[in-house]
Amino acid sequence: MNSEIRDVSLAPSGELKIDWVRKNCPLLRSLEEEFVQEKPFLGVKIALSVHLEAKTAYLCKVLAAGGADMYITGSNPLSTQDDVAAALVAAGLKVFAWYGSTPEEYDRHISRVLEAGPNIIIDDGGDLVHALHTKYPHLIPGVIGGCEETTTGIIRLMAMEAKDQLRFPMVMVNNADCKHLFDNRYGTGQSVWDGINRTTNLIVAGKIVVVAGYGWCGKGVAMRAKGLGARVVVTEVDPVKAIEAIMDGFDVMPMRKAAAIGDFFVTVTGCCKVITKEDFLEMKNGAILCNAGHFDVEIDMAGLREMALSAREQRKNIMCYEVKKDHFIYVLAEGRLVNLAAGDGHPAEIMDMSFAIQALSARYLVTHKDTLTEKLISVPREIDLDVAARKLKFMGKSIDALSPEQEAYLHSSAVS
Ligand SMILES: NC(=O)c1ccc[n+]([C@@H]2O[C@H](COP(=O)([O-])OP(=O)(O)OC[C@H]3O[C@@H](n4cnc5c(N)ncnc54)[C@H](O)[C@@H]3O)[C@@H](O)[C@H]2O)c1
Repeated sequence: MNSEIRDVSLAPSGELKIDWVRKNCPLLRSLEEEFVQEKPFLGVKIALSVHLEAKTAYLCKVLAAGGADMYITGSNPLSTQDDVAAALVAAGLKVFAWYGSTPEEYDRHISRVLEAGPNIIIDDGGDLVHALHTKYPHLIPGVIGGCEETTTGIIRLMAMEAKDQLRFPMVMVNNADCKHLFDNRYGTGQSVWDGINRTTNLIVAGKIVVVAGYGWCGKGVAMRAKGLGARVVVTEVDPVKAIEAIMDGFDVMPMRKAAAIGDFFVTVTGCCKVITKEDFLEMKNGAILCNAGHFDVEIDMAGLREMALSAREQRKNIMCYEVKKDHFIYVLAEGRLVNLAAGDGHPAEIMDMSFAIQALSARYLVTHKDTLTEKLISVPREIDLDVAARKLKFMGKSIDALSPEQEAYLHSSAVS
């Protein structure tokens, strides 16, 4: 079977969405032009598992323009947009994904892209890499390497590498400056509030927003909450990050204490059970909870469903749980990434940079396939700087360059 999607007749709406992304992603457009000439991926099969919305679709088209034979699936059951998947199929790419897939369907779609016998893996959260190592180890010899998009995926790769289980090189795309400094911080910061606002249609100004985790994403979510007029409380487990939050002007306290005062809660830690049953019981009537971390484990949804006296869908993507008699809390998008499951994900201009890093890292793997020795590879600095320089140019900005004298001064040990 060539593809498994909901309905190919949805393609026209997906095509318009992808066209909008293309128009707003000059960096990816420039790479598409280069790839059409160079065909770096000719004869290369790429399996991709990334949130399947229009930006990802454009990345797939850019890779296909470079000659890649693309096998595409999503990386979350609720983030696939069926019209976008249809547009890719109409363009001749192979897609195995639909919105609202069951756990069995999700696994089957992962299997379908792997059964193609890919040479390059583009993963978001580690599901492809995990399935390759556990279910399809016989396909590993054909894999040149892969790229991992997000923090959680890299944590999983590091755990595999520590046990000497990783069998092919993986580029840590998330750790490139042009990825996490902008995508995690400004992308998540903006798109999380877009998801919350369009889903709830409630005011943020004057409310108390609790942000769990003050990493790259948490900083962005807290910064934008402040901009919307909220009072922000941060919860952390790392004392250094906690001090950063305090110095940035936010209050810091344990979750149990924050639970009692928050109006909105956003978890973005990459950790599990950040908000638990005991916290739900402390919360104000009407508190709104959501998650922006990769997996739906940060809010203890199983515990909440178990303890709830009643549960019902209040609005699209809002579930209402009665945690005590006549006392309700609301969870957005079933505790899955709110910006993707209840929104369109990061702004296009942000993904322009993240996916340029992906595309150039994939090309790096292909062009260096005979010399790759490390299993966990940092994005080469030249790629990061290339992406930054191109982006700056497309932003219409220029910067100074070091003179030979300045260059010599910066590399000299002499004090003058
Ligand atoms: N929603 C999105 O579009 C999106 C985008 C990028 C990354 N992510 C995901 O978001 C998560 C966070 O990514 P990041 O780049 O900010 O990671 P990060 O490592 O920079 O930050 C995570 C922070 O959470 C803190 N933390 C860990 N456990 C905690 C706990 N129990 N309570 C409170 N704080 C805790 C850590 O100390 C750290 O400061 C990951 O799962 C990542 O994959 C989501």
